[in-house]
Amino acid sequence: GRVGAAQSASIQSTSVNSQTARTLTILFGSETGNAGELAKLLAERAGQAGLAPTVIDMADYKIRSLAGEQDLLIVVSTHGEGDPPQPAAGFFEFVEGRKAPKLDQLRFAVLALGDSSYEYFCEAGKRLDRRFEELGASRLADRIDCDIDYEEPFEEWRKSVLGLLHIENVSSSVSTTPVSGSGLNASALKHDKRNPFMATVIDNLPIVGRGSSKETRHIEVSLDGSGLNYEPGDALGVLTCNDSAVVTALLEALEFNAEHQLELKGETTTVKDAFAHRFEITTATPRFLEYWARVTKADELRTLLQEDRSADRAVYLHRHHIIDIVRRFSCRVTPEDFATSLRPLQPRLYSIASSLAAAPDEAHLTVAPVRYDLHDETRTGVCSGLLADRSEPETVLPVYIQTNTHFRLPDDEAPIIMIGAGTGVAPYRAFLQELEAAGKDNQSWLFFGERNFRTDFLYQAEWQGWLKDGTLTRMDVAFSRDGPEKIYVQHRMREQSRDVFDWLESGAHIYVCGDAVNLAPDVEEALIDLVALESRTSREAAEGYVRSLNADHRYHRDVY
Ligand code: 2AM
Repeated sequence: GRVGAAQSASIQSTSVNSQTARTLTILFGSETGNAGELAKLLAERAGQAGLAPTVIDMADYKIRSLAGEQDLLIVVSTHGEGDPPQPAAGFFEFVEGRKAPKLDQLRFAVLALGDSSYEYFCEAGKRLDRRFEELGASRLADRIDCDIDYEEPFEEWRKSVLGLLHIENVSSSVSTTPVSGSGLNASALKHDKRNPFMATVIDNLPIVGRGSSKETRHIEVSLDGSGLNYEPGDALGVLTCNDSAVVTALLEALEFNAEHQLELKGETTTVKDAFAHRFEITTATPRFLEYWARVTKADELRTLLQEDRSADRAVYLHRHHIIDIVRRFSCRVTPEDFATSLRPLQPRLYSIASSLAAAPDEAHLTVAPVRYDLHDETRTGVCSGLLADRSEPETVLPVYIQTNTHFRLPDDEAPIIMIGAGTGVAPYRAFLQELEAAGKDNQSWLFFGERNFRTDFLYQAEWQGWLKDGTLTRMDVAFSRDGPEKIYVQHRMREQSRDVFDWLESGAHIYVCGDAVNLAPDVEEALIDLVALESRTSREAAEGYVRSLNADHRYHRDVY
């Protein structure tokens, strides 16, 4: 919903509402929450500059208001193959569609968030920037494209945009008192990404049976004393670090002195520490490839960088970590120089598998460590490895809460259909704990998929308990590797198409959690097919039905 900036910042200045002042809206499109956070921070700053912005999520934006906007600041992230955030899909569709209004009256500026290790860097922001110009709007400031290290470019963009609006505002207003001090003092005490809470691990157990092909674990951490709150659907951010064996191997391959002092953003640290805590040092990015091709002059790497070889490049990066490339094409470089080729270590997000109503001061996670063999070594995922292998009880992990406002239980009694495979079932455990603890009467239906019934029925006893006491109305399971043919959750949905459709018709919310590459599109396909089948309409009409579920905030996805 709308967040008044004035509520969150301590503002003494007179917000200007004189006739000459223009309205200011800050619109964000966010999937993992970064764009939303920046938009709110921007609003606080705007408030301190005497402006009175309205902050709003593209997912909640009344599209018809666009023609009436005057100044519009956009913060938007990019996902997958240059796609907008899922919750912003409807907004993009409207703006890029034929029915978009002329926007001659509008002034705008775009801050695009992205990750330069992907092919379509900041594409969603670029699309809006281009489209608003086409529709006749004028730019307040040039678009800035931010990489995962977005703090500095954000500040730069904020200063230029707000500087301009502020000057206009001051000259049009009668009395604007400058604000001293920062409105962020209160929030500075709160734990977040930059100021994580050191959470103690309470428990860490395997939840698959002996002989499973997986190693899925249930991990409980204590949030006691943190002041942190979360709602079912939110994620726990973990500030991860690299395994010391991986750090040592890379130091050796590069012949670096582990204790060599390195200057990073005004702080001094050792190379060893920087490799452990500051940088991604496992998977290689195109930027790293470019760097290593330049310093080694290796033909094999240089040809991979040619524009028409992006597919080969992707395959190569898939099969070679940084250490494999460094070992194969050895070269003497300085740690300072090498560090410029690395990307900052990113926190990892895990959907929380518990509800505070059932487990006060705790957050539970469902984690399947990523492991695979590469160049005759077993490689383990950075954070899933930390959680599975190096987080026994009493260990301390730096964590924060990442809110996920797009994955929430309905605020009314609407039925819920939950679809999840593997660790994607985690948020549904949180949902059911919450429904039970809050005594809510929503009908609920779980589709769960895993490999083998005997070993991989995650939280089996809990679902069965909830079925028994009525918290869970219905459950369908798909064990893909028990029979001669693969059975997935979407097959079960198709088998139950009549009932799924009836539930949707009665106002059900549908949730999808798990793999983004295969599961999410397959489930969507099944959904469209079953709607077409059961409502006896065309595929196009069924797609429209699913789109309107999304527009009504009844189609929720948490996919990764
Ligand atoms: P599989 O590995 O046997 O192919 C959790 O990983 C479960 O999701 C497994 O049963 C896995 O099956 C299944 N899965 C794999 N691809 C899927 C897809 N495209 N749609 C739904 N489930 C899938």
